[in-house]
Amino acid sequence: MVLDEATGPQGAEALIADGDYLGREAVVKIRPPKGYRLPVLDSSIRASRTRNEARIMHEARAAGVRTPCIYDIDLKECTITMERISGDLVKNHLDSHPEDAPRVCRMIGETIARMHTARICHGDLTTSNMILHDDSICLIDLSMGCTKAEMEDIGVDLRLLERAFTSAHTELEESFGVLMDSYYSHVDNPAAIRRKLDDIRNRGRYT
Ligand SMILES: Nc1ncnc2c1ncn2[C@@H]1O[C@H](COP(=O)(O)OP(=O)(O)OP(=O)(O)O)[C@@H](O)[C@H]1O
Ligand SMILES: [Mg+2]
Repeated sequence: MVLDEATGPQGAEALIADGDYLGREAVVKIRPPKGYRLPVLDSSIRASRTRNEARIMHEARAAGVRTPCIYDIDLKECTITMERISGDLVKNHLDSHPEDAPRVCRMIGETIARMHTARICHGDLTTSNMILHDDSICLIDLSMGCTKAEMEDIGVDLRLLERAFTSAHTELEESFGVLMDSYYSHVDNPAAIRRKLDDIRNRGRYT
């Protein structure tokens, strides 16, 4: 594995380094130690987030959701080496090509519906955790996700998406409607999910 210098926002949990793995373009996601945590606790938290992320990426992929292919996992160093996905972050694409928002939002809705149908939640559904790759949506950053999701988990995933999307893309309110219509048209139980999402919104309003 040949690595360039790791980069990441200051204070972020993970650093991303470009490199190659057996001749393939790869990125390494590194969870560096956090000095403020007791070392044994720190190692165990970092290892468990690394393991969780790799497991959920793998399960989502098995359910037909595009996620990076995993090349290697190192639980001691807490790194995942994965396929580097080419393409723009959905966030940047929507900022620079708002006219393409309806098409992209339809794809996002369908992708998330497929993931939820497999009872997998992402845990951090923002347009910065999606890459527009060859006319499909690739989901990244699944470290907060879960499998065997219940209706409540699915509702919370959608509520987080709604909040993240509407605050990142204030001009694209209509396209968010397109996203949700596409989502509901691809799940088996749209009415129950709609009710759950309403319920979660109302809870936020009155507590
Ligand atoms: N497989 C990949 N291919 C291409 N780019 C990637 C890939 N994984 C991550 N990136 C880039 O690195 C950025 C940060 O990655 P990621 O979202 O996984 O980390 P993070 O938000 O710091 O993680 P965490 O929330 O787990 O602390 C992404 O927004 C994306 O630009
Ligand atoms: Mg991220």
